[in-house]
Amino acid sequence: MTNNFYGRNFLTLLDFTQDEISELLSLAAKLKAKKKANLECRPLVGKNVVLLFEKDSTRTRCAFQVGANDLGMNVTYLGPTGSQMGKKETIKDTARVLGRMYDGIEYRGFKQETVEILGQYSGVPVWNGLTDMYHPTQILADFLTIIEKFGHLEGINFTYFGDARNNMGNSLMIGAAKMGMNFTACAPKDLWPNEVLVEKCMDIAKLTGANIRFTENVTEGSKGADVIYTDVWVSMGEPDSVWKERIEKLYPYQVNSKIMENAGENAIFMHCLPAFHNRDTKVGEEMFEKFGIEAMEVTEEVFESSQSVVFEEAENRLHTIKAVMYATMREPK
Ligand code: CP
Ligand code: NVA
Repeated sequence: MTNNFYGRNFLTLLDFTQDEISELLSLAAKLKAKKKANLECRPLVGKNVVLLFEKDSTRTRCAFQVGANDLGMNVTYLGPTGSQMGKKETIKDTARVLGRMYDGIEYRGFKQETVEILGQYSGVPVWNGLTDMYHPTQILADFLTIIEKFGHLEGINFTYFGDARNNMGNSLMIGAAKMGMNFTACAPKDLWPNEVLVEKCMDIAKLTGANIRFTENVTEGSKGADVIYTDVWVSMGEPDSVWKERIEKLYPYQVNSKIMENAGENAIFMHCLPAFHNRDTKVGEEMFEKFGIEAMEVTEEVFESSQSVVFEEAENRLHTIKAVMYATMREPK
């Protein structure tokens, strides 16, 4: 059997075709069904992977850990402190060391360049677990969830509210362009994705029939949407000083029941998580004390509503990440 993914890195969806993304999603659905049926699938017994995290994580870290264990592999976790990487040792040297001990490397951190260097020099598959620019494994989980809800991706009206030039805004736009979806970024103009990336996505859209548009108008952006998506207004790695300005800019784009009503009763609400939907977190409470807001990017009402699929989406991180590891590590027979 051939395996077109074997040995490849998973750094951005830009590197994958529409068919390849569909193939990864089908594989994830199969692995999910197997796990639900309690059927073991351990084709990678004896292999070792290392998870490099320069930033915090719940879903991504646990999905890689559990996914690797499910497939029969051993896992090493290296957090923001405790390794030499980047402090006393270059990324290029780290890549060449880890590539001699491990069969796969996951990286979450700041620069896309770092994950690219790891991919270039380690000699083993490298998976992007989030950088400031992209979060490609999240998109696979989001798209698997949309397929489970609507049966397809092509033609889905997808609207992203909030900071549309962060890693999620960028990656969702790329994914939507690749998969022939109708993508709308609804945000203040200075938070739209950068022009170079937009042009790339527009070119892809011409081939797939996707539609990409931008609006500052909340009513226009949400009208007829099948999916309403949002993410945090301040991403990991950004300084605390941007909170004030971001809240002022993005509060009109908070996903609330009016937006969901305008989208329609069949629309679903999605969020990559973690989400600030009430005051029950340290940051949520701090922002309430400073700015008097009960919730940020999404209201409690929408987050907890029957239209919200955020926990199914979170579970799908496991199945899709497992598919990426499986596809890139399974030797062709
Ligand atoms: N969505 C996501 O990447 O979550 P974590 O930050 O918990 O990994
Ligand atoms: N944009 C967010 C995504 C978290 C999963 C961040 O980078 O913090």
